Amino acid sequence: MKKFLEKPSKFYFHYPFPVAVVGVKAGDTVNFMSAAWHTQLSFDPPLYGVAVSPKRFTATLLGKTSEFSLNFLDFNDYQLAGIFGRLSGREVDKSRVAEGEWVLGKILRVPILERAISAYECKLVQSVPFGDHILYVGEIVGVHYVEEYFQGGIGKSTLLYAGNDRYSFADVSKTICFTKEDALETLRRLRSGSEEQ
Ligand SMILES: Cc1cc2nc3c(=O)[nH]c(=O)nc-3n(C[C@H](O)[C@H](O)[C@H](O)COP(=O)(O)O)c2cc1C
Repeated sequence: MKKFLEKPSKFYFHYPFPVAVVGVKAGDTVNFMSAAWHTQLSFDPPLYGVAVSPKRFTATLLGKTSEFSLNFLDFNDYQLAGIFGRLSGREVDKSRVAEGEWVLGKILRVPILERAISAYECKLVQSVPFGDHILYVGEIVGVHYVEEYFQGGIGKSTLLYAGNDRYSFADVSKTICFTKEDALETLRRLRSGSEEQ
């Protein structure tokens, strides 16, 4: 690799990320915020973490409630991600972007986006500050999903965030299956090739 950055202030070289919309309801206030920095942390128990800056209205609301939802969208709904991610709940009511936009969770009092392709109901188990963000770790107590959207377990065109206000999606028609057996076989082939040289 030709370029090298020492101690970068910003780094986007590992993007894109699926967009996860964090939904919170604290009292009568409902808010949604787009997040790119999120990850599954454990299967058992099912834990998921999302990094939220303490500057966000969402962080203020998460100080008042211990539940949140994570909503994943289809590429066609990139405008929702932009609204939830470029406007703050402090300035606009993001719970009223469209009629009938959300419903309460089946287990928790978290807002679930009606247009989501999947959504997790999360019970906050820990919040840990890391640098300028706080990692909110939730235990997933329920999963909603649109069955026909996930064929073979893969979302058709899940909305991805590529950074710099650009959105994309994974082209799952180009999916390749590569198993452990394939890995062993390929390793054998690569090694025998390098021995021949
Ligand atoms: C696609 C996208 C992803 C984002 N990811 C994050 C993130 O992971 N963490 C974060 O704190 N802010 C992230 N942001 C910024 C917040 O979504 C943005 O500041 C939002 O307006 C905060 O809303 P709130 O003040 O209503 O909570 C992202 C913005 C966009 C557009």
